[in-house]
Amino acid sequence: MLNTSNHTIPSQLAVSTSLIKCDDTSTTIGVNSTYQYNKEKKDCIKNAIMKKLKSATLNNELGQDDSFCILDLKQLYHQHQKWKCSFPRIQPFYAIKCNPDPKIIQYLTSLGFGFECISAFEMKKILSYGVDPSKVIFNHTCKPTSHIQYAVDHDIRKMTFDTIDELHKLKTFYPNVELLLRILTDDSKSQWGTGNKYGANINYVDELLSTARNLNLNVVGISFHVGSGCLDIDIYQDALKNARFVFDRAKSFGFDFNLLNMGGGFIEVFDNPKKPSFDQIASVIQKTVDLMFPSNVQIIASPSRFYVTPTLTVCFQVVGRKILYNQPNKHNKTEHKKYMYYVNESLHASFASRLLYCESPVDLKVLMKNGICVYHQDLKEQTYSSMVWGHTCEPGDCLAEDIKLPLLNIGDWLYTENMGSYIFANSQFCGFQRPTTIYINSFCTD
Ligand SMILES: Cc1ncc(COP(=O)(O)O)c(C=O)c1O
Repeated sequence: MLNTSNHTIPSQLAVSTSLIKCDDTSTTIGVNSTYQYNKEKKDCIKNAIMKKLKSATLNNELGQDDSFCILDLKQLYHQHQKWKCSFPRIQPFYAIKCNPDPKIIQYLTSLGFGFECISAFEMKKILSYGVDPSKVIFNHTCKPTSHIQYAVDHDIRKMTFDTIDELHKLKTFYPNVELLLRILTDDSKSQWGTGNKYGANINYVDELLSTARNLNLNVVGISFHVGSGCLDIDIYQDALKNARFVFDRAKSFGFDFNLLNMGGGFIEVFDNPKKPSFDQIASVIQKTVDLMFPSNVQIIASPSRFYVTPTLTVCFQVVGRKILYNQPNKHNKTEHKKYMYYVNESLHASFASRLLYCESPVDLKVLMKNGICVYHQDLKEQTYSSMVWGHTCEPGDCLAEDIKLPLLNIGDWLYTENMGSYIFANSQFCGFQRPTTIYINSFCTD
């Protein structure tokens, strides 16, 4: 085991990151090895699920049959391979709000990641893993003073701003701060934009820079975030152009910027030829960055969904069923039978990402039917129009309004993959506890 502060990660994962190579298809990211990896991953996840479900059926202890998650640490390694190969120059600073799972933080720490925090609590957590304060950015543009004080006390110097008021606050509480000016980007093409809240309009930057100069504050660079889930190459390019413009403007105020934080937004979309792939987006960004920013400028980004989304599978049980029988509609024709299922998961727990950005219906698959595990099996059964409700009393807590599912019984299980991002918000609403996380490392298929 590798020791990082008082936390440990599996040595197998730590060692193997040194194998990352990008220059030919015979490396671990080649097609065959990806196939092999996917197979190993599925086998490993299936084993973990079977073990868990076996104990759930043997015991009837409180909580034994609650939903649970399988988190595959090897997937993090896999994502990091992709990132390093696509963005050799861009250092990742993981935004921990996306998924603060301790094992994820441990692993990313061991890879030398920086971290982006938005509160003192997040900074405290990251520092407890032995992360150097120089690798932490306090990326909230409107900070409570006690949180600024925490940063002062722990020598976390880099933070963002986008208003004159914040500059005055920082002059009072942290005159030695190293500031990143967060600029506004077009987030209209992203799944989840934050432009209404954060980021200074490009027309406003002169006023901000001149105020910072007058207050004798040190502005060291630019930060932007195109919104989470951005698949539009032009948006990244425009943001980079604007950042370059402000780098140049800053010179006239006596600043010499040396840091650019490109934020997050990166996601992977498979099986949709109309959308650019991660590789296509990355290649354009990397070229634009190289063209616009000399090598003495440090380029960082905070890719979070990209890293953790594919790590996690959520498994949950049907605990109730209601059948809506043929009801005459307004044209006096009978409508088809509809099944409503009530499951032990929720939009206020593992499915919180749906509230934030999920445009498409959640992909719910059958895991266990009549006691038989059907994980990743193509069920050749008739399907019915179904609705899946979450277990809180909140009337909007519906995981799927209208999806096709085979006929399920109480006690059957479902699963959803790619659920690693933004999952635990409000997780104890109505007293339901967080799902247990089972960690696997699909390097080992035992
Ligand atoms: C400022 C900032 N940086 C990084 C992120 C992480 O983005 P993502 O999860 O899309 O990678 C977010 C998420 O909204 C953010 O607001």
